[in-house]
Amino acid sequence: MRDTLKQVLDAELPNLVQMDVSALAGVLAERLLGYAPYLDKVFFTNSGTEAVEAALKFARAATGRTGIVYCDHAFHGLTYGALSLNGDKIFRNGFEPLLPDCTEVAFNDLAALERALASRKIAAFVVEPIQGKGVIIPDDGYLGDALALCRKYGTLLVADEVQTGMGRTGRFLACEHWNVEPDMVLLAKPLSGGHVPVGAVLTRKWIFDKVFDRMDRAVIHGSTFGKNDLAMAAGLATLEVMEAERLVQNAAVKGERLLAAFQAMAGRHELVKSARGKGLMIGVEFGPPKSLALKASWNLLETANSGLFCQLIVIPLLKDHCILTQVAGHGNHTIKLIPPLIITDADCDWTERAFDDVIADAHRVPGAIWSLGKTLIENAARAKVG
Ligand SMILES: Cc1ncc(COP(=O)(O)O)c(C=O)c1O
Repeated sequence: MRDTLKQVLDAELPNLVQMDVSALAGVLAERLLGYAPYLDKVFFTNSGTEAVEAALKFARAATGRTGIVYCDHAFHGLTYGALSLNGDKIFRNGFEPLLPDCTEVAFNDLAALERALASRKIAAFVVEPIQGKGVIIPDDGYLGDALALCRKYGTLLVADEVQTGMGRTGRFLACEHWNVEPDMVLLAKPLSGGHVPVGAVLTRKWIFDKVFDRMDRAVIHGSTFGKNDLAMAAGLATLEVMEAERLVQNAAVKGERLLAAFQAMAGRHELVKSARGKGLMIGVEFGPPKSLALKASWNLLETANSGLFCQLIVIPLLKDHCILTQVAGHGNHTIKLIPPLIITDADCDWTERAFDDVIADAHRVPGAIWSLGKTLIENAARAKVG
């Protein structure tokens, strides 16, 4: 990867600001479309949220409609268009008014989606195939039926695969799990292997042609650094490595192993309610315990700040075991794991041991974990007073 980037720099081209049609962008577009052969064109951006903005503009231009439908708990980025599709008030408050004509529906609820689409004023339904906040996996028929509803009412289906794409869920695109072929697929995060900011909108030709329909509209949407050579070369190098090291397959195999291990923990530890996931996108959900001693401590923590319990797991996992996890959203009891796609069996052993250790500790009252809980409660109380 570094060598590839050095080669681009050594070529001494004006490689960041694109004044022309970049050959590397063409090659990367072709390679990406190989993974979604039902799509024809790629528009490159500098981030995930910019890919969402482009998709919103493309959908409006292509359909002549203004409405956008998105899901509760959705996260699509934090610029104004993407923020208008955010299903969590905490991100929206203080920044309103947002984009008009955006309607929220419950994820996984086809009847609600149909009610929203039936106005025939909706340009696009924008959805994460698996929601990042909470690691919410849809019912098996949801995305396929959502696509059918979109077709019925003339709405475009936009799959935001910024988090789920590029092998994360054990397929190149998460939509593949349900054989769904959206009208637009959005990629970003891992597309350049973490080296250069980049994003992409993969779309159908007719949609693209509606936007860029005349010479004088050739620059109707774009940005200075979009499709720069460094990002494009990094994207190509990432795909090379992914294919050579069979990382999508690795994500599927290691993900299955980790998920089985976490599901077994749900049987052993009363605080662990369930584990769910696809490939290397896994959520471990915690919930109220049954035993009295634990219940009192859990309730105290919940009263101070809902979802605080997960920090008692996340903090020691990082501090004592060097494992970086994340609480999967505000007020949420799910811890999310999105380990690197290169994870080995030894890494899985280490992860499983660390979780088991930390979770076992959490079942000891009094114990180190609940002392940490007491500190967090005190901090939360101070924050409330402050
Ligand atoms: C599903 C999804 N879409 C869009 C974004 C925004 O991407 P970026 O942070 O590159 O703007 C994110 C970022 O977390 C995301 O998870």
